[in-house]
Amino acid sequence: MEKLTVRDFDPQGKRVLMRVDFNVPIEDGKVKDDSRIRAALPTIHYLLEHGAAVILMSHLGRPKGKVVESFRLRPVAQWLSGLLKLPVPSTGDPLGIGTRDAVARLKPGQVLMLENLRFHPEEEANEDEYAKTLASYGDVYVNDAFGTAHRAHASTVGVTKYLPAYAGLLMEAEIAALSNLLEKVAHPFAAVIGGAKVSGKLGVLNHLMDKVDTFVVGGGMANTFLVARGYTVGKSLLERELVEEAKQILEKADKKGVQFVLPTDVVVAKEVTRGAEHKIVPVTKIPNSWSAVDIGPASIEAFKAALDPAKTVFWNGPLGVFEVPTFGDGTRAIARQLAAKADEGLTVVVGGGDSVAAVEELGLTDKMTHISTGGGASLEFMEGRELPGISVLLDRAKVPAGAGKR
Ligand code: 3PG
Repeated sequence: MEKLTVRDFDPQGKRVLMRVDFNVPIEDGKVKDDSRIRAALPTIHYLLEHGAAVILMSHLGRPKGKVVESFRLRPVAQWLSGLLKLPVPSTGDPLGIGTRDAVARLKPGQVLMLENLRFHPEEEANEDEYAKTLASYGDVYVNDAFGTAHRAHASTVGVTKYLPAYAGLLMEAEIAALSNLLEKVAHPFAAVIGGAKVSGKLGVLNHLMDKVDTFVVGGGMANTFLVARGYTVGKSLLERELVEEAKQILEKADKKGVQFVLPTDVVVAKEVTRGAEHKIVPVTKIPNSWSAVDIGPASIEAFKAALDPAKTVFWNGPLGVFEVPTFGDGTRAIARQLAAKADEGLTVVVGGGDSVAAVEELGLTDKMTHISTGGGASLEFMEGRELPGISVLLDRAKVPAGAGKR
């Protein structure tokens, strides 16, 4: 169901309570990766240019309902201020008289950021009074926090009981890019699925089984499939309890005529550390005391060949231990190939933290069709699950009276 967006109400003179996902890495009081902040800029600019006062709210980290100094949002507010070239004061608490006063003083064209919502346990508990207080700060609610849309919290779900709820432009773009993959994708459609563990990817493999023409599987999770195919994987990461399930997935793919491409050779290492002794072996010969840490050169070529005819690719998860640069060749090679093909018209949607990091590190972000700001959220979306933070937004078909539609 299509959602109403910021373009569907008149922001002039309104206080807009806007949920963002500014859960970004911070080191020594500085934002280390601001992509989630930059991704929310179009909505913030739009609202400010159309005469709204914007009250931003986000979580940062998992402070478990207590004030944790290192999770204060001040560095994020300062960073945003630099990007907007506007002051962005942050409150000391999402609740309290000081916050209420700051909200009351806010004028059209100004921005205020509430302190980390998760400093109160009521946020994650989706407690009604907390949601009501947050909602009291705004006339309208906008959710641009796609990365947190899989959480049913006070700021993503509870507030919508009290305010008309619209999607921000980032939320709109994320929903469009991901639902295109599930609903009206151009075939051949290939999914490149990697990452350490198969347990986190079973949902997406099962849901995409009816939609893709090809699965390309690498990373630690491929080991469980290699064992399901009868190989041994030495000391490599393996989820033995999932081997049976992996077998069933392979059988299902076989029955449906879905190509399921696994590595044929791997880089193995004595230790999974920088500078460790390593070599390339076929998957039939993984030594007992070594671990697979990346796909090998023959696999890179086979993966590229399998992806070559694709018109659409969804990629989630690195194909090796990408954080150790020596073991990131497979991930980098596939990122480069997808970027080059995207230039020729291939639709490439990248979802998930580490594959996004790989694309960014190579400076290929702008080449991809869409890079999701949601890790868990994009995975759950691709599993076909309904995300609570999206379901509660106003549907285009059902606009309630007085929702402020132009
Ligand atoms: C994320 O980084 O995936 C989102 O911000 C959600 O964070 P959470 O997993 O702590 O709820």
